[in-house]
Amino acid sequence: MSTSHYIYCYLSILLCALAAANSDESNSISGNSKWYCESTDLCLEEDGQDEKPQGVRKEPRKYFESQNDCRLSCGKYGAIWPMPTGECSLSHERVHFDPWKVRFNVVAPNEATTQFLRETNRLFVSNLLKECHRNCTLTTSKEVLVKATVTDATLKLDWSTDESYRMVVRTTDTASFVDIRAATPYGARHAFETLSNLVTGSRSNNGLLMVSAARVDDRPFYPHRGLLLDTSRNFLPLRYIRSTLDAMATSKLNVLHWHVVDTHSFPLEITRVPEMQRYGAYSQAQTYSRADAVNLVKYARLRGIRILLEIDGPSHAGNGWQWGPAAGLGNMSVCLNQAPWRNYCVQPPCGQLNPINDHMYAVLKEILEDVAELGAPEETIHMGGDEVYIPCWNRTEEITTQMKARGYDLSEASFLRLWSQFHQRNLEAWDDINQRMYPSLSEPKPVILWSSRLTDPEHIEQMLPKERFVIQTWVNAQDSINRQLLQRGYRLLLSTKDAWYLDHGFWGSTRYYNWRKVYGNILPVDTKTGAMRQVLGGEVCMWSEYVDQNSLEARIWPRAGAAAERLWSNPKSSADLAQRRFYRYRERLLARGVHPDAVVPHWCVLHEGQCL
Ligand SMILES: *[C@@H]1O[C@H](CO)[C@@H](O)[C@H](O)[C@H]1NC(C)=O
Ligand SMILES: *[C@@H]1O[C@H](CO)[C@@H](O)[C@H](O)[C@H]1NC(C)=O
Ligand SMILES: *[C@@H]1O[C@H](CO)[C@@H](O)[C@H](O)[C@H]1NC(C)=O
Repeated sequence: MSTSHYIYCYLSILLCALAAANSDESNSISGNSKWYCESTDLCLEEDGQDEKPQGVRKEPRKYFESQNDCRLSCGKYGAIWPMPTGECSLSHERVHFDPWKVRFNVVAPNEATTQFLRETNRLFVSNLLKECHRNCTLTTSKEVLVKATVTDATLKLDWSTDESYRMVVRTTDTASFVDIRAATPYGARHAFETLSNLVTGSRSNNGLLMVSAARVDDRPFYPHRGLLLDTSRNFLPLRYIRSTLDAMATSKLNVLHWHVVDTHSFPLEITRVPEMQRYGAYSQAQTYSRADAVNLVKYARLRGIRILLEIDGPSHAGNGWQWGPAAGLGNMSVCLNQAPWRNYCVQPPCGQLNPINDHMYAVLKEILEDVAELGAPEETIHMGGDEVYIPCWNRTEEITTQMKARGYDLSEASFLRLWSQFHQRNLEAWDDINQRMYPSLSEPKPVILWSSRLTDPEHIEQMLPKERFVIQTWVNAQDSINRQLLQRGYRLLLSTKDAWYLDHGFWGSTRYYNWRKVYGNILPVDTKTGAMRQVLGGEVCMWSEYVDQNSLEARIWPRAGAAAERLWSNPKSSADLAQRRFYRYRERLLARGVHPDAVVPHWCVLHEGQCL
């Protein structure tokens, strides 16, 4: 391949330089290619040989300067990812504009929401600049005037937040006008994300091309559209978490589930209990300070994303908890780093909180207090609750002795009772903290737990009240537990194990799920709607045993984007119909500095419809 490449270079140095500059881009180097949109939604390049007889076409063909230009309005949804759920109409005409000259008019009810939208405008422009192929600056450019109107004065972001928006683009002789209307600033920011999907770099000239007229009416299908990031098994430097948030914002995902600590390490600073990080972090360099976490929460919210922290327990808690005996607080975690690990846990290193130690509850409450301060007033917490290994507790004398003293036998039922008491007690602590910290909250916040032996449908109602515990299931798609928990009135988040576990395919006998499989994961039917809804949404999970910053982005992206469309649009159509928009979405991630994996040979991207 390199030989012919060099010969070609020799023959045509100038063209080759152009090709090298644009080596990741889709257009031929001839510079005068002509693209057109087939009646379905294929963008095809006219090579001069496939000219059909003129009589066949009723109208003259509309040509575009590039594949991406064609893609902007080809098919019902053009290049918009995830696809809008309401009306979507896109003109085939373009305006040529200079992103530096876009003007914004923000109409919002107060200073905080106005400020939020100004920041959104800034992020929007910086994303536009990344689309320019050449110099962004145009000497003569039509003006683009964007007006964004939001009506709600609140910046609250939770399951009840209205993320809908309506956007109209129209163009006159003098200017283009974009009119965005949304209830909340989060809806408006999604509109800006969509607007950026109506734009592509111009090849024939400087500046950008934008669809000249459009109407989009959009709202997400699910209120919880998440990605889990695990920073305990392997630490992730902050800038990789920020780039994950950038890519999530591009995809309209709205929850970063931060599995910040686990048995392996405790990188998060807890100001009330500095021992946690001191004993638990891999190293001083592999830590998140309180300020880091606070800034990350702010960074995320500007991108329409909540950060939901998980403090896992009673299992998956070990390193960081070692200092109890020396401090006179007893064993707060038991079976800690015990060997052989198979006798004490499901994955090394072992560690499980000691449910009979009052000091452990006091320390955990201080941790919860720190977490409550980090987040927004409405934010809740994930309490973990997966994979408790009963033999660990059963082999710990201080626990079995205390159980017997309370009149418990050592049956599984007794251990489950102890386990559910652990969650109940932490829930009370959480409620107490929130009542003091945020006295204006009208209702206690629900908390989230993983599905486990404790959430088995036959006894969950005795263990965990459905008003307070939302269950995040991580079972295979065919498992009946989702249906059974829905019947019993529980609210669910879905992390379908055989589709949305992004770590699979890299260990044991697990299989890799490609983006089509991720896309095809349809969540269980919810018979309730509105505030009564039970299926809140779901999360793709990036467990970090076998990933760190060196491969993180390619492991997550663009696959998580396939889940993003599932959660935003819940499309009835298959991945086949989404593929061309998906390839364009992947290029958008690239332009924004994310490093998504390849999903198809580039030839197939260029030759739409020929690799089915
Ligand atoms: C881009 O174009 C503008 C106007 O034509 C010019 O002033 C500017 O120097 C150019 N920038 C670059 C980096 O070429
Ligand atoms: C704490 O754990 C250690 C090591 O497993 C054990 O020797 C000790 O007796 C435990 N302390 C109590 C109070 O049970
Ligand atoms: C706990 O250990 C005792 C004996 O040490 C055993 O009889 C009992 O079945 C165990 N309980 C569970 C739930 O495994």
